[in-house]
Amino acid sequence: MTLGNVRDELVELLAWYGELGVDCAVADEAVDWLRHGDVAPGAAVRQALRAAPNSRSPETGAERVGGGQTSRRAEAPPGFEVQRRSGKAATGSAANPTASAAAAQAASGLRQTAAGAGGQGASEARRLAEEAKTLEQLRLGLEEFEGCSLRATAKNTCFYRGAETARLMIIGEAPGRDEDLAGKPFVGRAGKLLDLMLAAIGIGESDVHITNVVYWRPPGNRTPTLQETESCRPFLERQVQLVAPEFVLLTGGAAAKSVLETTEGIMRLRGKWKELKIGGHHVRALPTLHPAYLLRTPAAKRQAWRDLLMLRKALD
Ligand code: URA
Repeated sequence: MTLGNVRDELVELLAWYGELGVDCAVADEAVDWLRHGDVAPGAAVRQALRAAPNSRSPETGAERVGGGQTSRRAEAPPGFEVQRRSGKAATGSAANPTASAAAAQAASGLRQTAAGAGGQGASEARRLAEEAKTLEQLRLGLEEFEGCSLRATAKNTCFYRGAETARLMIIGEAPGRDEDLAGKPFVGRAGKLLDLMLAAIGIGESDVHITNVVYWRPPGNRTPTLQETESCRPFLERQVQLVAPEFVLLTGGAAAKSVLETTEGIMRLRGKWKELKIGGHHVRALPTLHPAYLLRTPAAKRQAWRDLLMLRKALD
């Protein structure tokens, strides 16, 4: 085989990885998962979490208490407060680290428990977010912020697109490849579909403020981990306060779970309004299906359309 052939093969292999969404390295050493036999990726992380007292379950994001039972967070939240139908406030913090995220963490040797998720990053974020009196200052705070590990692999910070203040705010999961390159949320294929969906109910970019639960692209487009969403949370809370929306559309399970601090799946959550207080600001939040899911599952557009009509009605 000539050097040229080897090079061509490598280029082809890299292009294939790119198409699969594997477009950056998450660790210095490659992990050969086939050598691990029956042990699922992330098993070491799950084991460490199980052993840690009062750590969050990797499956649910809920805290472990005593003999391995899970419950929602017991202590008061730093910002989000979901008011259940009963009128009782339920608080907590949850976003499911996916198996692939756990695998990535295991591969890079990051054996953190989720207890105190966000950790020092969250306290730095809180300080910077509190100092910001305008969205522009919040953007500068984000640029200064070093406490979210996603920064290390992202090209740009994706803060928001659309209006500075709006009755409607849309919160998605995380920037993807196109967003990372453009430095703006929802500008790729899913974003284009989102724009069409909004246009269908008479909402243009100047009527809405669009953002995500994390501001940097997770490597390989994986779901952001609990630590990552928690470290960004103070910025998101401040953003909501500054934008002051009446309504928040939560697109997809990851955003809905993180903002509503629940472990329930999007299929159960979607199409139901939730009363929510974010840093003292009251909003009505509507979880719906993610446009990227709709691209893969066009039959689900019917459900999304129903949710959009609910939103239109509420705005009217
Ligand atoms: N998906 C999201 O959740 N957010 C984006 O910004 C792009 C795709």
